[in-house]
Amino acid sequence: MKRATAYSFSGGLLNTQASFRVNEMDVLLETKIPLKLWKRGKVRDIYEIGDNLLFIATDRISAFDVVFPTGIPHKGKCLNQLSLFWFNKMKDVINNHILESDFEKFPQEARFDELRNRSIIVKKSEPLPVECVIRGYLAGSGWRSYKKTGEICGIKLPKGLKEAEKFEEPLFTPSTKATSGHDENISMEQLEAIVGKETAKELKEKSIEIYLKASEYAEKRGIIIADTKFEFGRVDGELILIDELLTPDSSRFWPMDRYELGTAPESLDKEYLRQYLLKSSWNREPPAPELPEEVVSETSRRYLDIYKRLTGRELDV
Ligand SMILES: Nc1ncnc2c1ncn2[C@@H]1O[C@H](COP(=O)(O)OP(=O)(O)O)[C@@H](O)[C@H]1O
Ligand SMILES: [Mg+2]
Repeated sequence: MKRATAYSFSGGLLNTQASFRVNEMDVLLETKIPLKLWKRGKVRDIYEIGDNLLFIATDRISAFDVVFPTGIPHKGKCLNQLSLFWFNKMKDVINNHILESDFEKFPQEARFDELRNRSIIVKKSEPLPVECVIRGYLAGSGWRSYKKTGEICGIKLPKGLKEAEKFEEPLFTPSTKATSGHDENISMEQLEAIVGKETAKELKEKSIEIYLKASEYAEKRGIIIADTKFEFGRVDGELILIDELLTPDSSRFWPMDRYELGTAPESLDKEYLRQYLLKSSWNREPPAPELPEEVVSETSRRYLDIYKRLTGRELDV
């Protein structure tokens, strides 16, 4: 059930030097813009624009740290708009990197129609080299680790917890941010050694506060945030929230009405793709295979579904 995917590069509307790898379903896989490329991440293409960054969410998808040749319709727009929604909700808790989210107000050099609804201009920060993971429920790698050792990231947990069980208090389980390969969990002491004692404390407190506030909101909309990951950076010394926020790429979302203690709840995020891949013959080493049409459309449907459930709005496409 392999899918042959036809992609074409098209010129930008305003500047013919730009090109975009887009398929017939309007899936954007890669951009080439006449600005200095600052970083091509697994999902985002980031360019320098003046002293700031043009932060573009493509429709690329990765799993097990490998990027797939197939894109997911609407994914980039969903990540961008959901992050904006949450950054805005959290602005009383912490400042964030967003400078401009209105495409109409972008500087001319960034105004390519292909970037509409999937791009923002952000402050260039000095990213802290760690990921701040918060877990409210026992799931995924946390559950696997607990079964083996009774601990998660060096945190000793009570005996007899069941899969998907809610923790009394959310756990802060930071990890390194690997430039290549997989992130590694670290203890609070290791975090302190990397970012300093004071910053480590601030990261933990802010992460828990954001998680609790987001969870309270999401639960009113029938969604459990089982776990999630934040990234922080510094701009002129100030600690701010960067990257993406509470998206299906960075979080595990469970529909509340399907929650059952002792089983892995069906989740509205990338877990569906991971489960498909674990059953497939792919060995999780690059190159990643093309994804079948059914997996692409089912994944896309999940991204759109969680966007609508959380925001109550339709995506701007
Ligand atoms: N405001 C910012 N300043 C500097 N770096 C940022 C900022 N926001 C996000 N980043 C970095 O940009 C990258 C986002 O692109 P992404 O495709 O998600 O990368 P990754 O493959 O590392 O997940 C991440 O490496 C993230 O740390
Ligand atoms: Mg990322």
